[in-house]
Amino acid sequence: MPNAAVVTVSDRCFQGLRPDEGGPLVAEMLTDAGYTVTETVLVPDEQPQIEAALIRLADGGNCPLIVTTGGTGFAPRDVTPEATLAVCQRMTPGIPEAMRYASLQVTPRAMLSRAQAGIRGGSLIVNLPGSPKAARENLAAVLPTLAHGLEMLSGRPADCAKLTDRP
Ligand code: MTE
Repeated sequence: MPNAAVVTVSDRCFQGLRPDEGGPLVAEMLTDAGYTVTETVLVPDEQPQIEAALIRLADGGNCPLIVTTGGTGFAPRDVTPEATLAVCQRMTPGIPEAMRYASLQVTPRAMLSRAQAGIRGGSLIVNLPGSPKAARENLAAVLPTLAHGLEMLSGRPADCAKLTDRP
């Protein structure tokens, strides 16, 4: 299974006012799914810093999956989706569509996540909301299917007829 990195986007965690619970939770889910989490990063809700972290991880060439948590809501400083849009060359709208579809079965507030997902070079970047509960529910909705997308992204011939992510 490929390498993965987790980027927590939170002013409060960055300032040390709150422990980062979302990042470690996402890292644990990825590890349980077989990914090697090579790096966890904590940045404030500043678009240039989010973009710099995403670019560094994607362009390092060693991180096919980059998952962010936080900054997807409507608060004035929630800019993770804008940073993601700015650095991606191709968007993958089906991933946030699937996350919101699944999350709407849990809470109508799922419609308030502006999460994006997209591709920069050989890396897939996926935004998750910030609360550990929301991050877990959103990631669980798409995690079994990401491996197939990453296989295609890597250029290895992927057999789309093999439905390995079926429950
Ligand atoms: N999705 C799921 N599955 N469960 C949740 O509890 N919370 C929502 C939404 N998505 C939620 C969810 C709420 S209340 C908000 S404001 C948005 O995610 C954005 O969260 P963020 O600003 O922490 O990124």
